[in-house]
Amino acid sequence: MDHQGYVGLPLAVEFAKAGFPVTGLDTDVDRVAALASGRSHVPDVPSDELQALMRAGRYRAVTEPAVLAESDAVIICVPTPLRKSKDPDISYVVAASKEAAARVRPGHLIILESTTYPGTTEELLLPLFQEHGARIGDDFFLAFSPERIDPGNPTFKVKDIPKIVGGVTLTCSRLARAGEALRERLPKRKHRAGQRVRRHVPLPWRQ
Ligand SMILES: NC(=O)c1ccc[n+]([C@@H]2O[C@H](COP(=O)([O-])OP(=O)(O)OC[C@H]3O[C@@H](n4cnc5c(N)ncnc54)[C@H](O)[C@@H]3O)[C@@H](O)[C@H]2O)c1
Repeated sequence: MDHQGYVGLPLAVEFAKAGFPVTGLDTDVDRVAALASGRSHVPDVPSDELQALMRAGRYRAVTEPAVLAESDAVIICVPTPLRKSKDPDISYVVAASKEAAARVRPGHLIILESTTYPGTTEELLLPLFQEHGARIGDDFFLAFSPERIDPGNPTFKVKDIPKIVGGVTLTCSRLARAGEALRERLPKRKHRAGQRVRRHVPLPWRQ
């Protein structure tokens, strides 16, 4: 499951093409209605590709957060617009994380893909999940893997762009890395034990 913007829709389609049933969750009712009728709003995702995946039963778009409880993996890719101070507004990340945390269940893998500052995963997201009594690395697994998609680039599409995955625990890293590999079908992306390695990753798409 992931959110259906310029990052989330291409990601959802890659996972669906790799054979997984994917649910796109979004609060934007009009966007979801268009997707549910097979119309893509992202130029990198042709509508006919989306329609084929829907016919195959591997893609659906919904507004109802109850789907979070049914998903094995939740990819959070909501907006993080820059404030005037140039800090990211992480209110959308917090809201989406609270929705997921309220439905956390054993085995859940949560990956934050929004662009944000180092520490967001451990300092903000982790406590939200722990509030619900879930134990990290045991009941649920949490990682940060900022997306580096370059919309409109015909050569390097979402599955071609290397990423680094950092989990809160080593198992979180391994699971998140395995998830990334499934979508690419190639053992290309890297993982690290601590999500704080993000500190060293350049974020060139930031304006
Ligand atoms: N677009 C890019 O080129 C790009 C590239 C790399 C990284 N990023 C980063 O990825 C993240 C997502 O960017 P984007 O361009 O996909 O944003 P977007 O605005 O296109 O899409 C985000 C989607 O999340 C939905 N949403 C917001 N809050 C929600 C909630 N609580 N529950 C369900 N849906 C919710 C919105 O309705 C929207 O459809 C940002 O942090 C951005 O900085 C973007």
